This record gives sequence, structure tokens and C-alpha cells, in this order.
Amino acid sequence: MNTIDASDFERAWNCTLSPWMRGRIAQHDLRYTEIDQAERDQLILRVLDFLNDDVVQSGRHRADDWERGWAQNLTELQESSAAEAIIPKYFGKIPIVRWCQRWIAPVDRGLEYSMLSVLLDWVADTYLQGYSSIYEFGCGTGHNLVRLRERFPEAELTGLDWATSSQGVIQAYAAKTGDSRLHAAIFAYFDPDADFDLADSSAVFTMASLEQIGTNYGAFVDYLLDKQPALVINVEPIGELLDQTQLLDYLSVRYFEKRKYLQGYLDHLRGLQEQGRIEILEERRSFVGSFFIDGYSLVIWRPVVS
Ligand SMILES: C[S@@+](CC[C@H](N)C(=O)[O-])C[C@H]1O[C@@H](n2cnc3c(N)ncnc32)[C@H](O)[C@@H]1O
Repeated sequence: MNTIDASDFERAWNCTLSPWMRGRIAQHDLRYTEIDQAERDQLILRVLDFLNDDVVQSGRHRADDWERGWAQNLTELQESSAAEAIIPKYFGKIPIVRWCQRWIAPVDRGLEYSMLSVLLDWVADTYLQGYSSIYEFGCGTGHNLVRLRERFPEAELTGLDWATSSQGVIQAYAAKTGDSRLHAAIFAYFDPDADFDLADSSAVFTMASLEQIGTNYGAFVDYLLDKQPALVINVEPIGELLDQTQLLDYLSVRYFEKRKYLQGYLDHLRGLQEQGRIEILEERRSFVGSFFIDGYSLVIWRPVVS
């Protein structure tokens, strides 16, 4: 039995964690066991079967699925006031996760969610301090914003999503907890609302939501260039940052392609940087992933003030 501890995160992220981060990490059960060769072979076969199958691809046609999914969380939130009601249902379904380019077997089913919570805490601690307004686009139930609230008690936090049930969950949660600085608004990546303005010196954040729009990120990037947030943080599947000479990374990129996940986004940003329109501050993989993908790489950038 092993445990992922603060020093493992420091090695993976090449950083020194703050005392606050060490305290946060200590709140999770991060125990796991290694898998053996035979288990690994079975898992590879399972991925290959998936890649050869007919699967649901991301895109416009999935709007109703997201609407229904978050409506289920809303019903739960109305019935119980538990914070767990806003955690998406898709975490922990497969009892295998990725960590540092290998599969591990969690002791606790919640390991993937715990790892993402640690990653989000680290993003907040490292990059988001000092922003009085933070917007999460494609925020789903807003559970990431609820976590950010623990780090930033005073910030104006806004969750945007194309599913109206997302706004329902966030508004219900804000009312239940008396959080008058937690807001929600509708926003579709394919058709950004040019009238939705961002506060001065704000930070924009996405996590596993640009994922869903394949190659159709142009309109959203143009929206951001127009609104000029001070910082943009994307935690998304970024094939450009994976190492396809490694089997698990290779399979991850094949999965991105199969599901029509985000593709070419970082290269697009690199092109904008060459044109002097944005500055990319950070490109790095997190080494945190689910069974199928290493889908939480970080790209941090800002529009060049015009
Ligand atoms: C995998 S969930 C991630 C939700 C949240 N960011 C999180 O980390 O739990 C993807 C989210 O993207 C949203 N989404 C997908 N396509 C979208 C689009 N075209 N415009 C706006 N939101 C979209 C979905 O409604 C959903 O809330």
C-alpha cells in the first residue's frame, strides 16, 4: 500500500508547496496500490475495445445530456443540503486512475476527485491569489467555485455554463449557504455573448469544459481577447503536452480524438503568442488523470493589453 503525499506532488509539479497546501493534502485519503503486469494488460485491452467501439462524441448535440445531468444534482441539492450533492456523478466510476504516467488502484473510490481537489487548490494557491473576480466557464454544478471560496472568502465568483440547470444548482447553493458573492450566468462556447462583460483585472478559469468543444474554441478565444481578463487558466486535455512515446499518454491522445475532445488549442494559443496578441505564462501537464485520459494539463495565459 502506498500514499501520494506532499513530496510526491512537489516532485510531479516541480514546486515547493505552501503550509496551506500541505494542510489541504492531509485532508484526503490518497492511498493506492500498484497494479501488476496482468492487470495492466487487461486495462490496455479495455481501452483498445473502447477505441474500437461506437462512442458518444462531444459537441453541440450533447447540450441536453449536460442539462439533465446537472438537473439531477439540483434535485439532490434541494432534497439534502449536503455539499456532496454538487459533486458530478461521473467521478470514481472506474476504480483506476492515472498518476505520473501510470495506472494505480485507489483504496478510496474518491481518489480521482481528491487529486483534482488538490490540483485546484494548488492552482488557486499558486496563480489565483489577488484576483477579486474569478469566472469559471463551463462550470457545471459550480463545485470548483465552492472549493475556490474556501481559499478566497471575499472574491466575486461567477460560474457560467450553457446548461440552465447549472445556474439552478449554483443559485440554490448560494441561497442555501448565504453566499451573496457566488453568481451564475448562461454562456455557450459556440456562441459567446458579447454583452457579458468581465470585471476589471479578473481571472478566467476552465476545467474539463473546453474539453467538450473539439476544435471550436475560436469564438471563445476571440471573446477573451475582446474582454481582456488579466489571467486565463485552462485545466484541460492538451494533447500537445503529452508524450506519445509513452503508452498511456498515447492511449490518452487516441481517446481525445475518439471523443472529439479539445484539439489544437495550445497550438492556436502559441500562434497568437507569435502574433504578439497573448502571452503564455505556463504550459505544463499535471500528471493527474482518470482511467482513460491524462486530461488535466495547465495552460496559463493572458491577452496582451491593446
Ligand atoms: C466535464 S464537465 C466539467 C464541469 C466543471 N468544469 C468541472 O470541472 O466539474 C463539462 C462542462 O462543460 C459544459 N459545456 C459543454 N459544452 C459547452 C458549450 N458549448 N458551452 C458552454 N458550456 C459547455 C457542460 O455543460 C459541463 O458543465
